[in-house]
Amino acid sequence: MITNEEYEEFKKIVVEIINNDSFKKMREIKQHRFTNCYEHSINVATKCFIFAKKRKMKIDVKSLVRGALLHDFYLYDWREDKKKFFSHSYMHPYVALENSRKEFGELNDIEVDIILSHMWPLTFFKFPKYKESFLVCFSDKICAIRELFGKIS
Ligand SMILES: [Fe+2]
Ligand SMILES: [Fe+2]
Repeated sequence: MITNEEYEEFKKIVVEIINNDSFKKMREIKQHRFTNCYEHSINVATKCFIFAKKRKMKIDVKSLVRGALLHDFYLYDWREDKKKFFSHSYMHPYVALENSRKEFGELNDIEVDIILSHMWPLTFFKFPKYKESFLVCFSDKICAIRELFGKIS
């Protein structure tokens, strides 16, 4: 699958984010049928990383993984909040960006674009600008479908 060296590289990038207390709260937020937000975000980041490494893509791997982890960093259950029920699809990327900046400081352009464009084509005017953003946008949908049917990894 991936080499030990690549695995260590992945671990080094994710460790700061997945051990953050606020980020860990995503464990309490249901995402798709069989996953919470925390698991979903790690699934997307892992899928993107493996995809990029297998194809030896020339991309910014650190921004790819960080953006993938942070793309759904909202901390509410939209199913339970009537006000958010309809606006969630459009608004949660902005909430995720705000939470990310609050916890991890300023993000680079690729990371910001990954977060804001991951719902494309639903958010029609937020077209992914970078290869990294396309990859997260695509992997998010694949993971969402798999998670809906109980395939976690
Ligand atoms: Fe999302
Ligand atoms: Fe997602």
